[in-house]
Amino acid sequence: MNRTLLLKQYSPTWLGQIIECHPSVPSTNDRARDILDQLGPAAHGAVVMAEEQTGGRGRHGRSWHSPRGVGLALSVALWNEGPSDRAVCLPLAGSLAVLRALHHSAGLRGRLKWPNDVLVGGKKVSGVLVESRVQGDRPSGLVLGIGVNLLHREEDFPDDLRSFATSVRLAGGRPVTEEAFAASLLVALSPLLEEGLMNPAALVEKASGTWAHEPGDLLDVSSGEEILRGTFAGIAPDGSLLLKVDGRIQAVHHGDVTRVRPGGPRAGILAKEEKRGS
Ligand code: BTN
Repeated sequence: MNRTLLLKQYSPTWLGQIIECHPSVPSTNDRARDILDQLGPAAHGAVVMAEEQTGGRGRHGRSWHSPRGVGLALSVALWNEGPSDRAVCLPLAGSLAVLRALHHSAGLRGRLKWPNDVLVGGKKVSGVLVESRVQGDRPSGLVLGIGVNLLHREEDFPDDLRSFATSVRLAGGRPVTEEAFAASLLVALSPLLEEGLMNPAALVEKASGTWAHEPGDLLDVSSGEEILRGTFAGIAPDGSLLLKVDGRIQAVHHGDVTRVRPGGPRAGILAKEEKRGS
């Protein structure tokens, strides 16, 4: 990642007054947290990027595979002494910004898989991890980490990820440099974060129509030890997943959608397509 090239394409707002580009770090989220430790409120909006992460983290204790030079690993440090519910909007701001950058810089239309994966052609191209920093018992900073697969070929993914993961290149997007993608992402992210920190529900509204799930789809949602099965009934204004289970709507606040079986109007179309294909 060439910082000078990036700055030719992105004029920093409050976001990016500090921009660090590293060849290799354990995790850009850790480096963003260090900046919060060192600078306190002056760290707000600092951006850290790396060409490679040797210990990239994903959600729920998983790792995030970041081999050198094929993907974007970016973290934003945010100073936050307000109520911790402000953090709710951050993952969505991140994934919406990725959707916009995919479209603007690579001509790809993505979809969101709850809570904040970005899919292209049904496979994951990007993930978002928000971590909070606590001092004593007070929240004092948040780190928004975004990973995007840009130039990966099949062989750049570990075997167990190949059938679920894709990249801009594999999905047939226009060729895009790391700098151009990062610039599009930051341009999209700056206003989304500003708005989302004031009014999280506004982001949920903006995301409507971009979800990969449709009313009637049968979803398995793993939340801790439990797997909850129900039909997709929408996303609540606070970003939680609304699932119809045994005739009752439940709000799911944390978890992962692990399996989707299309229902509603799409199921009929897919069934016809399968018949034609057979
Ligand atoms: C997930 O889908 O599980 C979230 C993946 C988040 C990966 C990004 S890459 C930049 C930042 N640094 C990390 O260690 N993780 C996030």
